Amino acid sequence: MTLRQDHDGASVLITGIGELTTHDPAHAGPLRDAALVVERGTVAWTGPRTSAPAADTAYDVGGRAVVPGFVDSHAHLVFAGDRAEEFAARMTGRAYEAGGIRTTVAATRAAGDEQLAANLARLVAEMRRQGTTTVEVKSGYGLTVRDEARSLAIARRLTPETTFLGAHVVPEGSTPEEYVELVTGPMLEACAPHARWVDVFCERGAFDADQARTVLAAGAVAGLRGRMHANQLGPGPGVQLACELGLVAVDHCTHLSEQDVDALASSGTTATLLPGVEFSTRSPYPDARRLLDAGVAVAIASDCNPGSCYTSSMPLCIALAVREMGMSPAEALAAATLGGARALARDDVGHLRVGARADLAVLDAPSYLHLAYRPGVPLVAQTFVRGAVG
Ligand code: NIG
Ligand code: FE
Repeated sequence: MTLRQDHDGASVLITGIGELTTHDPAHAGPLRDAALVVERGTVAWTGPRTSAPAADTAYDVGGRAVVPGFVDSHAHLVFAGDRAEEFAARMTGRAYEAGGIRTTVAATRAAGDEQLAANLARLVAEMRRQGTTTVEVKSGYGLTVRDEARSLAIARRLTPETTFLGAHVVPEGSTPEEYVELVTGPMLEACAPHARWVDVFCERGAFDADQARTVLAAGAVAGLRGRMHANQLGPGPGVQLACELGLVAVDHCTHLSEQDVDALASSGTTATLLPGVEFSTRSPYPDARRLLDAGVAVAIASDCNPGSCYTSSMPLCIALAVREMGMSPAEALAAATLGGARALARDDVGHLRVGARADLAVLDAPSYLHLAYRPGVPLVAQTFVRGAVG
């Protein structure tokens, strides 16, 4: 059956749902033999198939499981070229270094706008096919006023969740002091109109805590909310600084002290874990169990980028979180949906409660458990965005 697109106010009944995960606290876990009604792109009703109200169009998913669309709150998708050779070298013993970013910077600066836009669109479509319905996209491979601003303008065409990451690394030819001045001055001014967020890579080899503070403070003055890359390659001050500043999210969180975990637990900051990075750099995984047991709000995201992790697959990240980071399948699914929404300060996505955006993934499986149980299998049969096949 062809699904009528729901942009004209027509209601759509999605029925025959073998297992429906809504994340509605009113339901104790997923609903079996369920249905969902979409009106004007939002969820209007969920419940047992047999008591579903009539709608203009019905779409039967044949007993498949339905989950909220994944919310990928951390991705670097505006770039040119790839670093497959670097990956191959890493797999035969070379360590991952933040400096590899400069290789992608050179390729990105040399690329035309159309080439960058086409590569971004290809990756967003690839994500969509794997169930991702909301994606955050960072700049950070331009590192000049022109290249950062055009990266964000291109990203803005595809997502409202755009992040200014001029403070990714210090480019060749600048001192850190000169570069922070550029990032917080003319670059920020050119980028702020195209961005919702400001990010900084607070790590040895990138920016220290004082520089991170300066970048985030300038971003805040320009109206951008803060997020941070921290504690990826080793211990450092980033996580505690993120909590002190009340950032919405701090991402990577691979190397954490007791004080870091305590700071996260007593803050409103979401710890975003990026297990594809540890997979692709053959590094120890962050300990999600320790964070969850301490009461920290956790998200999972892909970090899709050409260097440290070139996967766009949230299902793979869920499988890794379960297999390698001590999360239950339910916790991992929640982190990849609700957690991602929290990490983007969004309450309209990441769940399928009445009033949510009707963004969802239909799985070619009877249960969401298969996301972790069947790693590497293309389980997403269909993705809906605002109630229309996406
Ligand atoms: O999140 N950590 C900093 N940035 C990216 C890596 C980017 C790259 O290597 O090109 C990350 O892992
Ligand atoms: Fe990143």
